[in-house]
Amino acid sequence: MSAAGAALLALALSVTVLALPATAASAAARFSCPPGARPVLFNFGDSNSDTGGMAAAMGWNLTRPEGRAFFSHPTGRFCDGRLTIDFLCESTASPFHSSPPYCPQSNTLQYPSLHLFSATFFFLPHEWACIFLHATRNHSGETYGRQGLAGTGACSPADEGSRVWAPGRGSQARAGLVGAGGGARAHGRGESLNISYLSPYLKALGSNYSNGANFAIAGAATLPRDVRFALHIQVQQFLYFRDRSLELISQGLSGPIDAQGFQNALYIIDIGQNDVNALLDNFPYDQVLAKFPPILAEIKDAVQTLYNGSRNFWIHGTGALGCLPQKLAIPRKNDSDLDQYGCLKTYNRAAVTFNAALGSLCDQLSTQMEDAMIVYTDLFPIKYDLVANHTKYGFNNPLMTCCGHGGPPYNYDFNKGCQSPGVTACDNGSKFVNWDGVHLTQAANAAVAARILSSQYSKPQLKFDKFCRV
Ligand SMILES: *[C@@H]1O[C@H](CO)[C@@H](O)[C@H](O)[C@H]1NC(C)=O
Ligand SMILES: *[C@@H]1O[C@H](CO)[C@@H](O)[C@H](O)[C@H]1NC(C)=O
Ligand SMILES: *[C@@H]1O[C@H](CO)[C@@H](O)[C@H](O)[C@H]1NC(C)=O
Ligand SMILES: *[C@@H]1O[C@H](CO)[C@@H](O)[C@H](O)[C@H]1NC(C)=O
Ligand SMILES: *[C@@H]1O[C@H](CO)[C@@H](O)[C@H](O)[C@H]1NC(C)=O
Ligand SMILES: *[C@@H]1O[C@H](CO)[C@@H](O)[C@H](O)[C@H]1NC(C)=O
Ligand SMILES: *[C@@H]1O[C@H](CO)[C@@H](O)[C@H](O)[C@H]1NC(C)=O
Ligand SMILES: *[C@@H]1O[C@H](CO)[C@@H](O)[C@H](O)[C@H]1NC(C)=O
Repeated sequence: MSAAGAALLALALSVTVLALPATAASAAARFSCPPGARPVLFNFGDSNSDTGGMAAAMGWNLTRPEGRAFFSHPTGRFCDGRLTIDFLCESTASPFHSSPPYCPQSNTLQYPSLHLFSATFFFLPHEWACIFLHATRNHSGETYGRQGLAGTGACSPADEGSRVWAPGRGSQARAGLVGAGGGARAHGRGESLNISYLSPYLKALGSNYSNGANFAIAGAATLPRDVRFALHIQVQQFLYFRDRSLELISQGLSGPIDAQGFQNALYIIDIGQNDVNALLDNFPYDQVLAKFPPILAEIKDAVQTLYNGSRNFWIHGTGALGCLPQKLAIPRKNDSDLDQYGCLKTYNRAAVTFNAALGSLCDQLSTQMEDAMIVYTDLFPIKYDLVANHTKYGFNNPLMTCCGHGGPPYNYDFNKGCQSPGVTACDNGSKFVNWDGVHLTQAANAAVAARILSSQYSKPQLKFDKFCRV
């Protein structure tokens, strides 16, 4: 670890420090926002942060109630409204609007009125057909249900346990207020980037990449590494994007981002949930943990590849997988695996273990890459708290979907997802943590974003808005 990095870490671990050590101050200064500076953000991940990439790639026509709590038309987000990444981008002046203006293309901070899209169930590309099946097995390994349009594509043994979909986040403006006024503000709320929402890399029309691009794709995992749209492929897409942009500029044309923009940009990686879920759905717990290293190696490889030109990284840990209705709805012999909040201990224990290893990896990378800033944020305690202390956030039904079928306790049916005909959503998603069984509501996402911005769960505790184009 560099001196600066060590100093920042020390700072992060000691809230009583009043004066920054000189080295930390200078390191932090590198990331501070000069007045008028425009931050650039690149994001890699799964449906937790997919702002429309998969829908664009597959030509999906998602329908209501997706997006109903915020946007005026389907955007490809698996949520009733905004994702956590959207809240991280929004203006600090009004981070949690209740009446959103809309401005998909411009960088002015206006938001769409109201729109819904959704779908828990994806039309999976050929290679993903097996994921689909994996996700529908119970702990006995027996297939008990199908979600959406399962392809019947070949599942090779190499695919075994490789992926499933990811939980997301989402929620409503109200929850944003809860997050901002409640927990987060008490700790001093951090600031978002004040940029427009990230355009999906694969969205051909209406995208504006001047403040970055989003490579996240619903269903993505780290492994297998060469399938669409694994993390490795997302990084390759980024390199392609970067080269084309620099090429245009070198020809005297306008490229969305110049060399300095790429260098100063913030690179967020939020992936692993699909990998961990797929393992848990298919292997006994003790075997699952042994399979983490190759997943972590992919994330490490991504950072090392991006490091050729990039210096600012923000890595998110995974969430409380054992509290997702999709996992809770898997038939079980008895409730011995449930914790005091009704979540599955095994899934959560795996998530915690994965996050600990990911945090260690970030420490290791910080040591190796002395001039890089690598922030790790543990999303597990944030998302677990939404369930455990749900009343604090105004949530009534932390383990039940808003948009699903089957009624209590989980309102989740493997055969009838949020987008299935005849499925209706709850009246007000702001009372729910979970949107469709896998993804969080906008209300929950707002609360998650507020917690991320608080820096309280980050190491080092760097403020999010410190990353800017200079
Ligand atoms: C997509 O869905 C909307 C309704 O949500 C419908 O108006 C439109 O015709 C659909 N487009 C296609 C190509 O099916
Ligand atoms: C956000 O950015 C806009 C310009 O895009 C600027 O006018 C506004 O002052 C910024 N808000 C904050 C809180 O920095
Ligand atoms: C794209 O966004 C940038 C700022 O984020 C803005 O200056 C520019 O005008 C936008 N381009 C288009 C074509 O809307
Ligand atoms: C798994 O699913 C099969 C098929 O529906 C069912 O017969 C079996 O009882 C289930 N096992 C458990 C443990 O729920
Ligand atoms: C780093 O990027 C440059 C182009 O920006 C490329 O020429 C070079 O091969 C890359 N190095 C590695 C190790 O990938
Ligand atoms: C509950 O099920 C687990 C396996 O899922 C088993 O090991 C345990 O003995 C069962 N407990 C009771 C009380 O039946
Ligand atoms: C619930 O909130 C209390 C008080 O803020 C906190 O101490 C506890 O850790 C939270 N529980 C979880 C599981 O996050
Ligand atoms: C949902 O509930 C929140 C508070 O619980 C309220 O502020 C909001 O107006 C409600 N939204 C709708 C559409 O009823």
